[in-house]
Amino acid sequence: MKAVIPAAGLGTRFLPATKEQPKEMLPVAEKPVIQYAVEEGLVCSDEVVIVNSRDKKVIENHFASNDKLLTHLKEVGKDAAYDVVKHAGDLNVSYVYQDEALGLGHAVLMAAPKTGDEAFFVMLGDVICPDNDVLPAMKKISDEHNGASVIAVVEVPMEKVDRFGVIAGEDLGDGVWKIDKLVEKPPVDEAPSNKAVLGRYLLSPRVMELLKTTKPGVGGEIQLTDALDAVLAEEEMYALVVRHDQAYDTGTIETWISTNMAMFAKDNGRLPAEDQWA
Ligand code: G1P
Repeated sequence: MKAVIPAAGLGTRFLPATKEQPKEMLPVAEKPVIQYAVEEGLVCSDEVVIVNSRDKKVIENHFASNDKLLTHLKEVGKDAAYDVVKHAGDLNVSYVYQDEALGLGHAVLMAAPKTGDEAFFVMLGDVICPDNDVLPAMKKISDEHNGASVIAVVEVPMEKVDRFGVIAGEDLGDGVWKIDKLVEKPPVDEAPSNKAVLGRYLLSPRVMELLKTTKPGVGGEIQLTDALDAVLAEEEMYALVVRHDQAYDTGTIETWISTNMAMFAKDNGRLPAEDQWA
């Protein structure tokens, strides 16, 4: 089973930082943000497929071996640094390319030759699930429902729903919903719930088939959410409601900074000092 991470976007919210540097390579604490998603994906899959743009070779270099750096770190006895560099180069990552920015659904479709006729995960690299516990919980729900698709959602204030894909459905208890409708970025007064699509999906192979014929939707883009809504006519689909402390966003400057603070605190057991010189 594969995990697909779309990473071909331009990162315009982070300009000028992302003028040359892909937004996926911005650090969160000590790691580039995309490495969190890759490591999380490999907990439940045998290979992570990054849907890259041909201009972002830096991402591919990060997950390749760097023998010159490794030799140097070994020579100077920096064993801990050697280990983290080696680890990044050993992660099982492959690449496909999205040559036109036609939307998230289109990006996912580029990975079809890799996912074949198996179910697959889609992971939005902007989101970090630091305990790597969301995908296994989604897999469990899917296994309990004959391999149905499962989508992670998070409850957001109603006035923010227009930034997200939103679900409607029936509460089955224990944070599990049976979905009966999905809408991408609905106007606030038309949103069917406050349960927003987070960026972790476990999808049946039928989703790939339907993406081939999904027409552009909101924003003129081929939306993954629209393909999922179409699948609902044929297959059951479930949602897992994720707690706010199970997932962190890095997609805006504000959330990137607060996620850096949270990851630093997780690693060090305290927030950064207010007075750096004290
Ligand atoms: C995408 C998805 C949306 C989801 C969101 C989560 O939108 O299309 O359904 O809720 O990610 O961040 P984007 O943020 O790329 O506009």
